[in-house]
Amino acid sequence: MAALLTDLAPRRLAQGDLRSDLDLTAPELVALLDLTIQLKRNPGRYATALKGRYLSLLFEKPSLRTRITFELAIKQLGGDAILSTGPIGEREPLRDVARNLDRWTHGIVARTFSQQTVEELAQWSSVPVINALSDRFHPCQALADMVTLKERFGAFRGLKLAFIGDGNNVAHSLMLQLSRLGADFAIATPQGHEPEPGIVAQARSFAWETGAKFEVCRDPYEAVRGAHAVYTDVWASMGQEAEAEQRKANFAGYQVSENVMAAAREDAIFMHCLPAKRGQEVTDAVMEFPRSVVFDQAENRLHAQKALLLMLLP
Ligand code: CP
Ligand code: NVA
Repeated sequence: MAALLTDLAPRRLAQGDLRSDLDLTAPELVALLDLTIQLKRNPGRYATALKGRYLSLLFEKPSLRTRITFELAIKQLGGDAILSTGPIGEREPLRDVARNLDRWTHGIVARTFSQQTVEELAQWSSVPVINALSDRFHPCQALADMVTLKERFGAFRGLKLAFIGDGNNVAHSLMLQLSRLGADFAIATPQGHEPEPGIVAQARSFAWETGAKFEVCRDPYEAVRGAHAVYTDVWASMGQEAEAEQRKANFAGYQVSENVMAAAREDAIFMHCLPAKRGQEVTDAVMEFPRSVVFDQAENRLHAQKALLLMLLP
């Protein structure tokens, strides 16, 4: 029993916030994945860890998975959450919002249009701030995805994930976490939709440290060659609705179809953060594919966020 308790003891994150994937060191990321898998096996553990603690959930954008899984995770750990939807920092400066919330609640989970909003909340708040998706990062999604890959394949070294489509927030978080963990990463995007050069440079430096391969290219078939996992996301993210029609044209040829999946490894899995637009970035057949793990990813949001909360609010 003592060994079990030691195994499960959550490690405190040095940074104190999860503004982006860059706030997690490689050992912290590994510890978080291990704790997630243990919590998934034993969901009753830490049922009172957040007793008497409250978190502010601030959502400027819609959400199904992130909102429900954060509320559930907080409640399953014995705490409670208060939700506020709508613009953040419009009625008053962000530095004032942060200094109100930290007087009442023990942590802030924020889904924002701008990464700058997350940064300012973290700068001005004395309690942990968690990025629940911004225009540039979606670290909680990538954590759940790392858990899903670990469950399927065991190890990250030698594993390859190919991302097809927009070089967006989800792609950024995936490339940072995978390269930290030593997995190979390839991304194929149309011209003008590449991931941010600064984030690519950071991910490349992690890949160099871990000996992983890292590729940015145009051709989806080139990207998926030898891939264990093929990942895609919507072509127009939240906040880009006005560009949706133009983007449909720009992304022609970037749909993950059965042909694209057939060009990956024979046992390749299909991944998507959801919500998906069937018929655009992915076909209905691939979404319903026996090796589509999209609902495993969604389930793992709950377990990974429980581990994250335990490591940020010990
Ligand atoms: N994947 C994800 O973050 O889903 P929601 O937008 O529904 O939260
Ligand atoms: N890239 C998508 C992810 C949704 C979970 C968006 O930002 O809308």
